[in-house]
This record gives sequence, structure tokens and C-alpha cells, in this order.
Amino acid sequence: MKKITIAIDGYSSTGKSTVAKQLADYLDYIYVDTGAMYRAVTYFAMHHGFISENHFDKEGLLNSLDQITIGFEKAPQFETADVLLNGKNIESEIRTLEVSSFVSPIATVPEVRRKLVHQQQLLGQQKGIAMDGRDIGTVVFPNAELKIFMNASAAKRANRRYEELIERGDKVTYQKVYDNVVERDRIDTTREDSPLVMAADAIEIDNSDMNMEDQFQIILQLAKDRIAGRI
Ligand code: DC
Repeated sequence: MKKITIAIDGYSSTGKSTVAKQLADYLDYIYVDTGAMYRAVTYFAMHHGFISENHFDKEGLLNSLDQITIGFEKAPQFETADVLLNGKNIESEIRTLEVSSFVSPIATVPEVRRKLVHQQQLLGQQKGIAMDGRDIGTVVFPNAELKIFMNASAAKRANRRYEELIERGDKVTYQKVYDNVVERDRIDTTREDSPLVMAADAIEIDNSDMNMEDQFQIILQLAKDRIAGRI
């Protein structure tokens, strides 16, 4: 069967990775969570003292970029991939609110983007890939056969993220999570290099009032139609 490239972009906590994972499982495609790659660079920057509250040593990070190698490995019990920073599995460490609060400034740095985009393009060279992020349909794979742009209200998104964090045992307040969602939207959409915008040929899905299964079926049908060349 013909393999295509599926680009899933959109705002944070819209369930992009859930649907990208479901598609990859169903179609037997590679799944890549590019947000995890930016989070891994952020984790590295935090641990080397390049970023903290009111401090960002961009030069320090740029001088260390060559020391960062990002990879993926299959998660032990699941069909998903965990992110590796220099060979160490940091999947759980990158999902904290602290990493979420520093990741958007890190993702504004053009040199960081260039490094990660290059790696993402190599991963997708053979097609048969479902990749989610902010610039996949606009920058990484402008020729992707299927581009989806996901949206939902900020309150719904904050609620989903809050419940995830509470389930993990993190001590956070809803207000903090909501503020982080809104602040990340602001930085992601207004940065100069590759801001979050919907590609002209993307299909927008607002899932504020949609369950995950219905959403998956809608997007899967679009993928099947593209693979068969029907649309
Ligand atoms: O999808 P996520 O919430 O894990 O992404 C974390 C941050 O990384 C997001 O706020 C913006 C940035 N990002 C990006 O700039 N480009 C991408 N392709 C993916 C994520």
C-alpha cells in the first residue's frame, strides 16, 4: 500500500500525540513526537544551568548544542516511543510543568529548531510517518499528503493537562496549568522562526466537544482517502 506523510500540528494539549500515535499504530507507521525533542533540549538546558526563572544563557546552550543527541526507544510495556537524551530515557522527566514552562523560549531559538528539524526530516525520508508538533505541515514536511491542524478551547486543554499531571501525582493547581497553556500559545504563535500557524492546505479539527475515538475515526478516514488517492 502507498505510504504517505501525516503532519499533525496545533495548540498544546489538543491531543495531537494521542491521535498521531493511534494513526501510526493502525497504519503501521513510525510515530514521532517532536514536542518531546524540544522538551529534551529544554531538560538538558535546565540541567546545565542555561535556563531557570528569569535567566536564559542562550550562548551557553548554543555552545553545547553539539553535545545533545536525541533518540527514541520503544517504551517497555507500550507501543509508544520514549525519548532519549544522550542515551538516557527521560520520558517521565520531560512531562513536568517546569519543563513545560521553559520549553517555549527554548523553541524560539533558530539553531535549536534547525538541528531538530534536520533530524525530523531524516526520520521521515521514507514516508510512512505520523509526526506531531507545531511546524510539521509548514516547515518540516511542507509536501505532506495529509495535514491536520488541531484546536480546542484553552479551558478544555488546560483541564486535560491538569488531569494528566494530577494522575501522575504532580502537585499543581488548575490556574497554573491554565496560565502555562495560554502563555505557551502566545510564545508559540508569535515567535519569529516557524510560528505556529495553520498550513494553507491543512484540515482544521476543533475537538473541544469531541471524544478521542470519534476524532480518530474522522482523521483515519481522511488518511485512508489520501492513501487511496480519493481526495
Ligand atoms: O507538543 P508539546 O506540548 O510537547 O510541545 C512542547 C513545546 O515545544 C511547545 O510549547 C512548542 C515547542 N514545539 C515547537 O516549537 N515545534 C514543534 N514541532 C513541537 C513543539
